[in-house]
Formats: sequence, C-alpha cells, structure tokens
Amino acid sequence: MKTQSDPVRRSWRIAKAPGRLPLAGHALHLARRPLEYLSSLPALGDLVELRLGTRLTYLPCHPELVQEVLLNARVYDTGGPVKEKARPILGNGLITSDWADHRRQRRMIQPAFHTTRIATYAEVMREECATHAETWRPGRPVDVGDAMQALTARVTARALFSTDMAPHSVAEVQRSLPIMVRGAFRRALDPTGLIARLPLAANREFDAALGRLHGLIDGIISDYRRSGEDRGDLLSALLAARDDEDGGAMTDREVHDQVMTLLLAGVETTASALTWTWHLLAAHPEVEAQLHAEVDEVLGGRTPTYADVPRLTHTQRIFTETLRLYPPAWMYTRVTTQPTKLAGHRLPAGTDILISPYVIHRIPEFFPRPEAFEPDRWLPERAKDVTRGSYLPFGAGSRKCIGDVFGMTEATLALAALASRWRLRPVPGTTVSPRAEMSLTAGPLPMVPEPR
Ligand code: HEM
Repeated sequence: MKTQSDPVRRSWRIAKAPGRLPLAGHALHLARRPLEYLSSLPALGDLVELRLGTRLTYLPCHPELVQEVLLNARVYDTGGPVKEKARPILGNGLITSDWADHRRQRRMIQPAFHTTRIATYAEVMREECATHAETWRPGRPVDVGDAMQALTARVTARALFSTDMAPHSVAEVQRSLPIMVRGAFRRALDPTGLIARLPLAANREFDAALGRLHGLIDGIISDYRRSGEDRGDLLSALLAARDDEDGGAMTDREVHDQVMTLLLAGVETTASALTWTWHLLAAHPEVEAQLHAEVDEVLGGRTPTYADVPRLTHTQRIFTETLRLYPPAWMYTRVTTQPTKLAGHRLPAGTDILISPYVIHRIPEFFPRPEAFEPDRWLPERAKDVTRGSYLPFGAGSRKCIGDVFGMTEATLALAALASRWRLRPVPGTTVSPRAEMSLTAGPLPMVPEPR
C-alpha cells in the first residue's frame, strides 16, 4: 500500500450536500437512493456536511479523514440512534459497547479469533462446504442469497457451538437469524421508534425469533458451564476468556450478548459478499476460468482445507475485489464525544459521522476504473500502489472487524469447494441491483448450477 510517497494534503475541501429539505434535511435522499446519493458527494468535497433530520452529520470522502476518525475511537465513538436501537437486540456486546467497555471486551475476546482457533473453525467450514456442494442438482435453480445465508449460518453456529445440541441449535439459528436481521433493519430505519410497538405480524414474528434465539443461547451457555469442558469452539473460548488486567471472566449475560453479536455480525455479511461473488463470476467468464484453473490445480478434486487457503491466491483476490465493489458493511457510524476538528473544520460534540466503504471504494482517484471487477488489481505488485486506508471492508482501528480472518477463510473455502464442482449460470431475465439493507445485498438471485 502507498504510504510515504503520498502527498500530504494541506487544504481540504469542505462542502455542504445539496438538496436539503425543511425538517427532513437530507434524510429522504438517504432513505430513497442511499448508494447513488452518497456516491455523488465525493465530487463536491473531502468532507461533506449533511443534516439527517436535525442531526448534524458529516461524510468523510478521503481515506486520510476516514482513518483519522476510525483510529481515534475515544473522540469518535460508535453511537447514535442506530446503536441505541440495536441495544435491546444485542445487549452490550462488541458492537454496541462504548469506548471504555469495548476495550476490556475486545481484549478478552480477541484470543477466540487467534489463528490457531481459526484452524479449528476451518474444519467446520470444510465439512459444511462439502455438504453444501452435495445439495445442488444440475439444472435446478437455487436462490444464491438463501443458499449462502444457509451455509454461513451453519458455519457460524457450528463454530460457536460444537455441542451435542448442535443439530437443533444450527437449525434454530438458520430459521430465526434471517427474521431477526430483517426486523433489526426495520427498527434501525424507523426514526420514531413506533414501528416496533405496533401489533404487526412482522413484529410478532421478530419477537418470537428473538425469544427463541435468546432461549437457545441461554440453554447452551448453562450446558457448557455445567460440563466445564473446552470443546475447542468459539463459545468455549468466550467462557474461558480472562481479562489480563483484573483476571475476571465474563458473566453469562456478557457471553450471551457476545454470541448474539457474533451471529448478527458474522452471518449475513459473509453471505452477501459470497452471493455477489457468484453474480460477478457469471458476468466475467475470464475471471471464472482463472478461478477454475486455480482450484483444479491446487485441489485436484479434493475438498479444500485450511492448509490450502494460502495457495488459493486468485480465489482470495476475487473475494477481495468483490468486497471492494459490494462491501456488505456499506456504511457505519461514529459520534463525536467531545468538540474536535476534522479536516481543519470544527465539529461540536454529538456530531454524527458516516463512514461508507462503498463510497470510498468507488472514488476514481484511489481505484482507477472503480466500476470494473478486476481481481488482478490485488496482485502484490499492483496492490502496493493502493492508497493506504482506502480499502475498508472490515473497518480499521480498535473496532476493526474481529471476524475478518474468519470471514476471509470461510469465503475462500466456500468459493473453492463449490467452484471445483459447479459453475452457476444466471437465470435469463434476472436483474440485479444492490440493496442497501443491514448488509449490501443482491436481493433474490436465482442461478442454475451446472456440473463442471
Ligand atoms: C466478509 C465478511 C465481513 C465483513 C465485510 C465485516 C465487516 C465488518 C466491519 C466493517 C466492522 C466494523 C464496523 C465499525 O467499525 O463500526 C465489523 C465489525 C465486527 N464484525 Fe465483521 N465483517 C465480516 C465478517 C464477520 C464475521 C465472520 C464475524 C464473526 C464471526 C464478524 C464479527 C464482527 C464483530 C463482533 C464486529 C465488532 C467488532 C468490534 O467493535 O470490536 N464479522 N465487521
């Protein structure tokens, strides 16, 4: 990545977003066409001011400014209305905790994502990918979004709980998690907070799904506590975690909140990106051919294992490039905890900051031909020219995705395992356009498996 040679910017362009409406400010543009609207703003300035309702909000449109925000978690904490709405669902886990609490939580949970642990979870990934490859039938269309969601839900649930209760708990996670994700997104969008309280069928379904997940997680935690065994899974690692500073363990409530957080953060993100990858591969036969050549050479018909991941370099570049074009976490937010300056511009305490990898990843100054799907831009000799801090699918700083290696490993194994047996062809007449929901999803995506 480019570092020293970058020119240091001295004068930043500060701009106000166009189209402000009375009361709503720019909120309607963001609600109606979020990706198009936000992507139009970097042309106006390096830091763009918006109003979402009455809230003063900024979108940094230059990697240096984004890094300044993300690397300064004390001044730019996570927060704002979306986080408040997530609290009743996720409790106080890694995503919802504030700066002081987060440091302790992260210290304790990080070892559960150590490479030695990832190697164990990769065994689950290997098994699930192999099983999934058996479920497709030649010529019978699959909805790729649903298929990838089912695969990542099973992988994450089994990496979390490798218990005797696994078959039941995995099925429950598969059933309830998508309902919870949809409901959480509806709540996040509702500025009034009223939707959650209306007697709607969708709310009843959401409450029931959430209740089932809470019950399942509580049951599994008490079972693990009783047995006291280390089963080598994520939950065992969370229960065994001790704080370096005070030696304390997490309470059952804390472990519960982290499990819920990992499920919500880990399943749909990876599934959406995998779904986009199949769509892009079908549209780029030359990239697909390179993928097939690599998996045939490295695997020779075997199911891939963790040991194969370092040799699946083209597969990894394909996923890396998909995350650039369609980053599942297309936007996340911060709130200033004190008055500060960004790009030399004064920000009062309580200012919202929008970080959008989708926007940054499509600025031509940082990614030439930004709309093109070019996995080879990540070849080592070319990747070194990518501007530091401009590639952000996993965020940066102390809140950087804790599951980044987990997700990359899972996606590499899934692509390699499935592409060594199948190619997916689009169903004629299907149109795909990104939907900025909880993740950046492709919507319904029927494709037809063809054996290779
Ligand atoms: C391709 C897949 C994934 C993408 C694109 C992704 C993206 C992200 C991003 C951008 C953040 C930072 C958000 C912020 O700064 O506010 C984040 C945080 C997080 N992710 Fe991921 N994620 C992925 C997979 C996973 C997986 C597989 C897991 C768990 C198994 C996971 C668990 C988490 C957690 C717990 C956090 C909060 C971390 C903290 O604040 O300390 N993610 N993710």
